[in-house]
Amino acid sequence: MNRIVTAAAHPNLAVVKYWGKADPRLNIPTNSSLSVNLGSARTTTTVSFSPDLEQDVVRLNGAAADDRTAERVARHLDRVRRLAGRTERALVDSTNDFPAAAGIASSASAFAALSLAASRALGLRLSERELSILARQGSGSACRSIPDGFVRWEAGQDDASSYAYQVAPPEHWDLRITTVIFSDQPKEVSSSDGHALAQTSPFFGARLAGLPRTLETVQAALLARDFPRFGLALEREAVNMHAIAMTADVGAAASGLYYWQATTMQLIQQVQAWRRAGLPVYFTIDAGPNVHLFCEAAQQAALEAELARLLPDMRARAIVSAPARGAWVMSEA
Ligand code: DP6
Repeated sequence: MNRIVTAAAHPNLAVVKYWGKADPRLNIPTNSSLSVNLGSARTTTTVSFSPDLEQDVVRLNGAAADDRTAERVARHLDRVRRLAGRTERALVDSTNDFPAAAGIASSASAFAALSLAASRALGLRLSERELSILARQGSGSACRSIPDGFVRWEAGQDDASSYAYQVAPPEHWDLRITTVIFSDQPKEVSSSDGHALAQTSPFFGARLAGLPRTLETVQAALLARDFPRFGLALEREAVNMHAIAMTADVGAAASGLYYWQATTMQLIQQVQAWRRAGLPVYFTIDAGPNVHLFCEAAQQAALEAELARLLPDMRARAIVSAPARGAWVMSEA
């Protein structure tokens, strides 16, 4: 009997970044990372397997997926089929309620929801750890969208030891994360390509040497709800990751990998000015131009008043999230 399963997952935002792979085939990272699930964005994915299908059919946001995406999804379905010892092809229908490639990693929520829906559709009941390992094989950061709330991905040394787990539930800390979207154009250099270039930066070794301390600082500040300590450490960590990207050896075409736009830098400086003026807000940035602002819930109204003045001039818009749950099954038939 074949089940139709719909699962959903939120994207997650790293406060300690995954940047560089020890094993690109399995997405084993060169360092452990820490993230929070973003409650105001989600991917919803329905999967059904059928002996009547000759190949996997992948629909994304209501249209046939492009070849590259369809191929990446089919490879992931192969992993699930292997686990279940089955061979049927699947129909996959996935929708995002946020712009693709908007600096919110859609691959994280996508592979988390797909892993849960596809494994359940084949009758597998994977543990949280097993699901996280499976999701990681699809896209590294997807493993962090499986557990609830604030999540740590232990780098590990091999497939079995590289997985994500909760460090605090979503209600642990009433933070607000405002994603300021300057561009919803797909990024020019994918994060997968960025990972591959990371080790060419002369500063990569220094980054790795400093990361265990950064991770412990950010995690301790998170557990203690020490916002200034948490914010400054996560902000410096984001700049550290971008310093690696900017100093990577990308060949003759450019001197480095630049994800920032002029507006990105403008907002970075605005954040420093807000703090000097007494508004505690900190930023992080992923592999794109968009900026994610962290504040405590009590400061959100003040931040929004500031943004209301700023964003029309910057031609930007914002999505505000609170910490959220991990991947879940919406329906099973
Ligand atoms: C900058 O998980 O998208 O968002 O494993 O190749 O799919 P792949 O990469 P991906 O990389 C995310 C990079 C990042 C930082 C982070 O989320 O930790």
